Amino acid sequence: MHNLFILGSPRKNGNSETMARTVAAGLLQQAGSTVEYVRLNKLKITPCQGCGGCNSSGECIIKDDMTELYEKTDAADRLFLVSPIYFYALSAQIKAYMDRCQARWARKYLLGRQFRKDEHRTGYLLSCAATAGEKLFDGPILSAQCLFDALELQYGQPLLLKSLEQLDAIQKLPYQLAVCQRYGEKITTEQPLP
Ligand SMILES: Cc1cc2nc3c(=O)[nH]c(=O)nc-3n(C[C@H](O)[C@H](O)[C@H](O)COP(=O)(O)O)c2cc1C
Repeated sequence: MHNLFILGSPRKNGNSETMARTVAAGLLQQAGSTVEYVRLNKLKITPCQGCGGCNSSGECIIKDDMTELYEKTDAADRLFLVSPIYFYALSAQIKAYMDRCQARWARKYLLGRQFRKDEHRTGYLLSCAATAGEKLFDGPILSAQCLFDALELQYGQPLLLKSLEQLDAIQKLPYQLAVCQRYGEKITTEQPLP
């Protein structure tokens, strides 16, 4: 099982990255698990230009760091979309990645090509925010569901933590870290949500 973590925060070792690394520690309890991190902030991913270039081929005409990331995305058995909440939304880094996945949407819905028949491939949203607002994750959940559908991933139970503001906030919270580790361990044995 190959687990790909798409890190969407510009902050290295911030709360969402710590969530990801702690979840990964749980996943690695499963024999044969591999983990890979992609830090979007280090990559050059041009925003989607809405040119329709992918409509007839399923391939994006822009050649940048996303070219390699399409392949990594396709190769993942589990994909973790990891993002802080910015203004009740996913980070700009994640949004750029997501919009470029329009090429995968075109492949599936315009060209009717199923690229990998594997109903166990699953996507998970990992996210955190500083406040405790009730609707903090509503928009990001819808976006993640829409993205995972285009990528032919089942939608897995998300991990969403509130009240984390400073860079190292989660490091001081053993209970939250344990929740992340347990989440990683549990999803190795769980079926995706319907
Ligand atoms: C530009 C920006 C916008 C933010 N917007 C929100 C928000 O709408 N609601 C909230 O609760 N926290 C918000 N935050 C706080 C972050 O979500 C929070 O600090 C999070 O833990 C950062 O995760 P990271 O350490 O992985 O970067 C915002 C932070 C920034 C920098």
